[in-house]
Amino acid sequence: MLFTTTFLSALVAVGGALAQTTPPGFIPAVNKTLDVYYGTQYITPGLMVKKSSVSKQPTIGVTGQTLTGKYLLAMIDIDAPGTPRGTVLHALLQDWTPSGQTQNGSSILATKATGPASYFGPAPPAETPKHPHNYIFLLHAQPDNFAVPAAHKSAVQQRLGINWPKFITDAGLSSPIAANYLQVQSGDNTKIFVS
Ligand SMILES: *[C@@H]1O[C@H](CO)[C@@H](O)[C@H](O)[C@H]1NC(C)=O
Ligand SMILES: *[C@@H]1O[C@H](CO)[C@@H](O)[C@H](O)[C@H]1NC(C)=O
Repeated sequence: MLFTTTFLSALVAVGGALAQTTPPGFIPAVNKTLDVYYGTQYITPGLMVKKSSVSKQPTIGVTGQTLTGKYLLAMIDIDAPGTPRGTVLHALLQDWTPSGQTQNGSSILATKATGPASYFGPAPPAETPKHPHNYIFLLHAQPDNFAVPAAHKSAVQQRLGINWPKFITDAGLSSPIAANYLQVQSGDNTKIFVS
């Protein structure tokens, strides 16, 4: 009995440390958390949020990893309506570097780049039954002379049909160093009040 309890707690502890930070079934699967903050709102993987709270580009960082060099961030909606569901590219931003600042223990990354594809916030259309959209963040080391491969230029420009595993191969990226995802409910009509 005692053994079982101890064994189970050990499993839970290991599971917590290695919890997947990409949605079930998504490839590439990632276990390291990309820290994502919308203002002071910390995104735990899979958190459902209001459309209005994620309209502006988040602050990103990592905990417990020392980063050097440049990084590439993608944000991809994998639940665009259709059969099968498609993808919408919500951001592809290059040249992230360690800023030297921290937030809540995260080493914050910063970029001045607004491309190859600038951030636009989730706005999933209404569906019956409702279908929460998963928006996945993927951070990769950015190769020297990074450029969007020719085969993906149109998908990046139109934001539709990005195939991330193929992009990784074609752009010569290594596995993501961290990832995260959030959900927004389909038909979230949260009004954004601008004062
Ligand atoms: C993530 O952790 C799970 C369970 O601990 C493991 O099976 C899987 O191989 C890991 N995936 C990666 C990409 O490290
Ligand atoms: C700080 O980060 C931890 C994870 O490292 C998270 O659980 C917590 O919600 C964060 N708190 C704030 C205020 O950002």
